[in-house]
Amino acid sequence: MAATSLDQIVSLSKRRGFVFPGSEIYGGLANSWDFGPLGAILKENIRNFWLERFVHKRQDMVFIDAAIMMNPKVWEASGHVANFNDAMVDCKECKSRFRADHLIEEKFPDLKVDGKSPKELTAIIEEKKIACPKCGAKGKFTEARTFNLLFRTQLGIVEGEAARDVYLRGEIAQAMFVNFKNVLTTTRKRLPFGIASTGKAFRNEITPGNFIFRTLEFDLMEFEYFIREEEWEKWFTYWQKEQQQWLKDLGIDTQKLRVREHEPHELSHYSKKTVDIEYQTPFGWKELFGLAYRTNFDLKNHMEQSGEDLQYMDPDTNEKLIPHVIEPTFGLSRLTLVVLLNAYEEEKLENGEDRVVMRLDPRLAPVQVAILPLSKDERLIKKAQEVYELLNTKTNLRLDFDVTGSIGKRYRRQDEIGTPKCITIDFGTIGDDDKQSKKDHVTVRDRDSLLQKEVSILELAEFLKPIQ
Ligand code: GAP
Repeated sequence: MAATSLDQIVSLSKRRGFVFPGSEIYGGLANSWDFGPLGAILKENIRNFWLERFVHKRQDMVFIDAAIMMNPKVWEASGHVANFNDAMVDCKECKSRFRADHLIEEKFPDLKVDGKSPKELTAIIEEKKIACPKCGAKGKFTEARTFNLLFRTQLGIVEGEAARDVYLRGEIAQAMFVNFKNVLTTTRKRLPFGIASTGKAFRNEITPGNFIFRTLEFDLMEFEYFIREEEWEKWFTYWQKEQQQWLKDLGIDTQKLRVREHEPHELSHYSKKTVDIEYQTPFGWKELFGLAYRTNFDLKNHMEQSGEDLQYMDPDTNEKLIPHVIEPTFGLSRLTLVVLLNAYEEEKLENGEDRVVMRLDPRLAPVQVAILPLSKDERLIKKAQEVYELLNTKTNLRLDFDVTGSIGKRYRRQDEIGTPKCITIDFGTIGDDDKQSKKDHVTVRDRDSLLQKEVSILELAEFLKPIQ
C-alpha cells in the first residue's frame, strides 16, 4: 500500500535520517527542516540526474552558479518588489495568520480566487462566513492585506554606518537574465539556447507547511531557454513534454501527475502562459513544477533599468533582437518529497510480517548496496571489508557497511532507506562449512523481489552493474 498520509513520510524521514526538524534541540523553528545524511544525498542525486539530462547531455545549455544576494535594483526591474505579493488575514481571536486565498479554497475548492484583490478576498470571506480553522471564531478576520514575499536583510551593519537593504533571491531566474550578456560573450551560444542554474530561493510565505512541500527556503533547478518570439509555442510544447518525460524517467507514477494551465487572472506578472505540473499528494493535487512563457519581459526591463544592451545579434544576419524565454522550473525540495512519497510502500510478507519498503530508483537511492556480515564474527567482518574495498575500487556504487543488530533488523533498515541490493557474507563465504553459501560466494538480496542469489565475489562488480 502506498503512503496514505504525509505523517508516514515525516516519521520515516526522522527515523532513518532523510529529513530532520530544523534546530530541533532548541525546540525547532517553524517550517524549517534539515536534510539528514540520507536526504542530503538523495537530493543531490536528483540534482545530478537533472544536471546530466538538461545540462551535460545538451549542446544548447550552459550552467551558472550565482549569488543569493543581488543588487536590489534587480528586484525592482524584475517586478518582484511591486508584484510578488500574497494577501493575508489575521484571526483577531487567536492571532493566527492565513493566506486569504487558501482559507477560501479550503472551504470552497471550486471558487476561483487566484488573482483576486485583497478587497475581493475579504468580501468573499465575509459573505461565506468562513470560520477560523484554528479556533473556530466567525467574522473575526482582519481585512486582507498584501504581504511581499521577498526576504529582506541588511548589508554592512557596522555601528555608525547606514545599513543597506537587500533581498535574498525570491527566484533563481534573475541571475540568468542579469548574466545574459556575460554568458553570451563567453560561450558564443546561438539561439535557441538555455542558461541553467540550481540553488536556494527564499520566500516569506504566509502559510508554509506540509513538511518540506512549502518552506521559507527551498532548492530550485531551472533554466531560461532563449528563443525567437515567433517560436515560443513550439518550444513551450517541447519543454512541457521534456519535463513530463523526465519525471517519468525518474520513476514517478504518471497516474499521479496532471497538467493544469493557469487561468489568465492567475498568471504571474511576467508570464503570458503558464502550466503547472501537479502531483496527487496525500493532501490533494499540488503544483510540483511550473513552465512559463516569460516573453522578453525580464531582459527588456533589465535593459531599460541598467542601461546595458542585452540584445542578441544574429551572427549571420546582424539582426538585433531581445530574445524571448521559456522557463521550465523544477522545485527540487518539493520533488524530493514527491520522490519519497512515490517510493513509499507498506506490504505484508508471505510469512505474515509487515514491511515498509522505499522503492527508490537505484540511480537515486542514497545507498545502492549494503554489505552485511551475517554476524560480528571477526572472520566475517574481515571478509566483508574485503568485499567492500573491492566494490569501492571496481565500481562507483554508493556503499554502506553495517554490522549492528540482527540480520533481520538490518534488512528492515535497508528496505526502509531504499537500498536496492544487500550483500550478506556468511560462514560459507569464508569456507566454514555450514552450507549457507559456497566458498568465496556471497548472497545478494533484491529489495523488491526479495529473491536471494549466490554470486561469486569475482563476478560481483559485473553483477551489480545494472544498478549503477
Ligand atoms: N522562476 C519561476 C519560479 O520561481 P514559481 O512558480 O514561483 O516559479 C517554481 O516557483 C517552483 O518552486 C514551484 O513549482 C515549486 O516546485 C517550487 N516552490 C515554490 N514555492 C515553494 C516553497 N515555498 N517551498 C518549496 N518549493 C516551492
